[in-house]
Amino acid sequence: MTATTQHEPLQKSAELDRREFFTKIGLGSLGIAAAGTLAFYYQYLSPNVLFEPSPIVNAGALDRYPLGSVTLDVNSAIYLIHIADGYFSLSAICTHLGCVTAWKPELKMIACPCHGSRFNIEGQKLAGPAPKPLPWLKAWVNDDGELMVDRSITIPQFQFLRV
Ligand code: FES
Repeated sequence: MTATTQHEPLQKSAELDRREFFTKIGLGSLGIAAAGTLAFYYQYLSPNVLFEPSPIVNAGALDRYPLGSVTLDVNSAIYLIHIADGYFSLSAICTHLGCVTAWKPELKMIACPCHGSRFNIEGQKLAGPAPKPLPWLKAWVNDDGELMVDRSITIPQFQFLRV
């Protein structure tokens, strides 16, 4: 009995340490759970915005496009074309599966490298699996005399820009 009483303070001290240890683990777990909840709500409440480049392209001065020229702007995936009827812009994206087409001056046609669709200079399909012609895009001349194109607005075919 006396031996037990000698060890009692030691047992109490060990019990307190154990209690303190589990209390700290419990508080740490609550802290981690609270941080996770805060991170979730921050992500949930922050706006989910996708930044895209403007659809409007400044193609530069009109004299960059002499009569008879077909210019591919690879960055914007548009053609800037100047023929006797006027200026116009076509999307360079193939209407089949979205490959960027290329102007073939020796054939006087626009060709898709992916599955062989062919279009004439006005974007009408000549051959291949493309289901539709290349879209005509809204084009205008701004106050500084520069050719502007809005890639997000298609217009009916043969609406030439005459300046
Ligand atoms: S993507 Fe142009 S023909 Fe298929």
